Amino acid sequence: VPLEETSLPLFFGWFLLPGIQDKVRCTSMDFLKTLDTLEAFKKHLPDFTVEAEKEVDLEQYFQANGVLHCTTKFCDYGKAEGAKEYADKPAVKELYGSAFELSLSALFVTPRTVGARVSLSGDQLTLWPADAEEVVSVVPAAATLPAGSRAHITLGCAEGVEPQQTGFDLLEILALQQEGQEGELVEEMELGSLAYYGKGRWLLSLREPISTQACFSSLYG
Ligand code: A2P
Repeated sequence: VPLEETSLPLFFGWFLLPGIQDKVRCTSMDFLKTLDTLEAFKKHLPDFTVEAEKEVDLEQYFQANGVLHCTTKFCDYGKAEGAKEYADKPAVKELYGSAFELSLSALFVTPRTVGARVSLSGDQLTLWPADAEEVVSVVPAAATLPAGSRAHITLGCAEGVEPQQTGFDLLEILALQQEGQEGELVEEMELGSLAYYGKGRWLLSLREPISTQACFSSLYG
């Protein structure tokens, strides 16, 4: 009996190839290392941690978990709404196991998560579920954002925070941008421009997007 008939995976997504995972992790670490030494970051530290600390070591603050990936559809072994429909999509079946180039266009940090924004191409959007941005109970303005807005790679979560929070944090920042809030431009860094969006939310728009090779596949966990 084929596996797909017995159960659905935990999730489908693009899994970064090993070499590029190291590169992305290093870039993220370098960014965190620089961010927590900036005066602007220190000034906004009370937004960032509830404790009255004077400093925070961001590299310690976030915990990395597992293989770097960009989730397309969280299926929860078939229990998630639309899981079966997604697995049955012709594009999903056709492109399963294929290689892709994902473009990482920004890095973001909040008190809960650190992640990379993935800017999906037209091709890649054929694998994107139609309901991914319909999370109005968590981020009210999210449903008005273009399809693919939630696409991201979770690079780390603060203690006790679940990885799905990363997508919500990204949607929140993009919703602010859509309302016309450009964020407060804080600094031109080597990697790009760093902007502050209040409540401990930081976005680094990369000067050069990071092109990452990834395989469209699934994880059974
Ligand atoms: P993300 O894609 O933001 O990293 P878990 O380890 O909690 O079972 O999650 C496995 C993967 O599926 C993670 O990558 C996670 O978040 C994603 N994920 C978990 N729950 C959901 C959900 N309800 N909706 C979308 N993605 C989810």
